[in-house]
Amino acid sequence: MTGVALVTGGTGGIGSAICQALSREDYRVVSTYSNETKARQWQDEQRRQGHDIAIFGSDVRNYDQCLRTVLDIEEVLGPIAVLVNCAGITRDKSIKKLTPEMWQQVIDVNLTGVFNFSSIVAKCMLERNYGRIINISSINGRKGQFGQVNYAAAKAGIHGLTMSLAQELAPHGITVNTLAPGYVATEMVMQVPSEILDKIVAQIPVGRLGQPEEIARAVSFLASPDAGFITGSELAINGGQHMY
Ligand code: CAA
Repeated sequence: MTGVALVTGGTGGIGSAICQALSREDYRVVSTYSNETKARQWQDEQRRQGHDIAIFGSDVRNYDQCLRTVLDIEEVLGPIAVLVNCAGITRDKSIKKLTPEMWQQVIDVNLTGVFNFSSIVAKCMLERNYGRIINISSINGRKGQFGQVNYAAAKAGIHGLTMSLAQELAPHGITVNTLAPGYVATEMVMQVPSEILDKIVAQIPVGRLGQPEEIARAVSFLASPDAGFITGSELAINGGQHMY
């Protein structure tokens, strides 16, 4: 057993692949969820595929709930060695139609959620002088995207958080990194109208969407003790669509 790995939004497309990859690495994997019925079905499916993944209900937007969840996980399963902040939503609209509510929903889940879990788990990791925090951002946090003022702002904010937290935690054996996936074949990306998605895929030099497993493998590496000299970095995995 390599320790407990907590994945927020682990029941989603990329999140599921991350949970499975960390479970293969012998972590005791825990995912948070917002919809209990769906999460229980997801957990059964993971079991059928050979992965025993614990699930805890937690609204990433709510600091007190996140605190309760972390305390419960540490009491029941043990110290959290790895935190992957993966919970995320889209509310895509051009600026003429983007409402303050759509702005706030995305900021609350995609950015405040990362702050909530990172700050709580970081305090636990500081007591043990070890930890790995991996924040899942997006290509669009770097290059922007028509219709994603809210999402791109939140995802860009994540890397500011990563770099600052990395500096604070580096002397204590805790690394903090951002992983920025491009367009990956998940339900979220498949919601983009097909004529728009075709144009996006045409801009990817590798010539296809990414696979969730291609993101998950990089998470496994960043989560490993071997990655102790990598901190404050942003790893782009986008098939060459945006290079920096
Ligand atoms: N570039 C330039 N102009 C565009 C455009 C684009 N990409 N998309 C639409 N337009 C134009 C339209 O033609 C229209 O022009 P007219 O007013 O002259 O007709 C105008 O902009 C307004 O278009 P809409 O009324 O369709 O705009 P909307 O508010 O309904 O929003 C949209 C459209 C939902 C943003 C749609 O364009 C879309 O889904 N785009 C894809 C966004 C995207 O890539 N999302 C990624 C989701 S997956 C993800 O986020 C994961 C990850 O990390 C990568």
